[in-house]
Amino acid sequence: MSVVGCGYLGAVHAAAMAELGHEVIGIDVDERKIAALAVGEAPFFEPGLPEILTSASSSGRLTFSTSMSAAAEATVHFIAVGTPQKPGSYSADMTFVDAALDALLPYLKAGDLVVGKSTVPVGTAARLAAKVRAAVPGADLAWNPEFLREGFAVKDTISPDRLVYGVSDDPKTAQWSQAVLDEVYATALSEDTPLVVTDYATAELVKVSANAFLATKISFINAIAEIAEVTGANITELADAIGFDARIGRRFLNAGIGFGGGCLPKDIRAFGARAEELGRGESLAFLKEIDAINLRRRQRVVDLVVEMLDGQAFDKKVAVLGLAFKPDSDDIRDSPALDITVQLHGLGAIVSATDPEAIQNAQGKHPQLHFVADATEAVRDADIVLLLTEWREYRDLVPEDLADLVADKKIVDGRNVLDSRVWREAGWDYKAMGRP
Ligand code: UDX
Repeated sequence: MSVVGCGYLGAVHAAAMAELGHEVIGIDVDERKIAALAVGEAPFFEPGLPEILTSASSSGRLTFSTSMSAAAEATVHFIAVGTPQKPGSYSADMTFVDAALDALLPYLKAGDLVVGKSTVPVGTAARLAAKVRAAVPGADLAWNPEFLREGFAVKDTISPDRLVYGVSDDPKTAQWSQAVLDEVYATALSEDTPLVVTDYATAELVKVSANAFLATKISFINAIAEIAEVTGANITELADAIGFDARIGRRFLNAGIGFGGGCLPKDIRAFGARAEELGRGESLAFLKEIDAINLRRRQRVVDLVVEMLDGQAFDKKVAVLGLAFKPDSDDIRDSPALDITVQLHGLGAIVSATDPEAIQNAQGKHPQLHFVADATEAVRDADIVLLLTEWREYRDLVPEDLADLVADKKIVDGRNVLDSRVWREAGWDYKAMGRP
């Protein structure tokens, strides 16, 4: 099989498919990325990926190329290129998907199946399928959205919690596509892995609806956190209490500085934009509110920090722990932690920022910031400490270890992961999100 696009999604998918026993060729136009992958190096931080890259490369089952002609030998072709937010718009930029398919078409033959994995506006699969059928009679297309979470990408790909196949509305083609995909995932599926075989539009919508729902859950709890903040209620205890209702569930109800990353923010925007194109803008108008609540959390932290610094961030030393959009990732795309850091720097604060994995990426994007190697260095002489990404090593921080290093014992727990009692008893001015 071929995997076209070797970013977060494609690189993990290619390595995981080889790990499952398939012969895989990963293809990307980025020469540096392919050169790294070809020697078994992951081009980004993802737990477990280096291990499966090495074992797949040494087994000879996984190779990489910058040339689409390498796809000629494969019969199943995954499209795993990015669909970022278009500059100056909320829509998804489909340039990479369209270019990938156009480049692949000359190498397709009858009996090949193109499988879309990228997150796309509904209607894309039908459009691409028509192109495939017109160019290569006997070839077809399926849509098989990916639900992997960064930090758990390898596990999520090797043992998915569900699979969705969007297939042709011609019954014979549909049956054949399903058989091809069943064979691809044969060793990944356990007997009780749910499988939904459906039409293209549903498969495309499953993905964006899932992300919209997750974003809504997070913004819901953050909206209630705003109410908790003016009433003295405790959002963590509230989330525990409502989460005991199995219909609600506790997961994704962690209030804090909001969601970021390469998926949720741009996916809810693109989904809303697509609804408008379809004449149903009002159906998803609430997603604008979800986005607005989410962005307000960043402002809330900035305001809180200024307030704790007696109304003036200028010239104050601010220690930032965590830059990645979530722990176990070096991804800084739309990271709330990085956004807050940049805003405080803009207010004239002297920021010392650190992260176990994301410094290099953050430095590339914001060279104006001051980065240091670890938490100990970051907090030295700090007037205030901010915990913005809940890496294990920051969750485990002990107030006594920092007390002698800082100038002032003030801390903002942006992820509600520290024990307020412990920090306050140690003499710290401890503030969290939506908790008194
Ligand atoms: C998400 C979806 O979970 C995944 O299924 C999809 O395939 C891609 O998008 P990912 O972007 O890796 O995955 O991150 P996720 O774990 O969903 O977290 C997204 C953001 O929400 C992070 O910034 C995280 O810190 C934040 N978050 C998550 C919260 O603020 N509170 C929560 O309770 C959960």
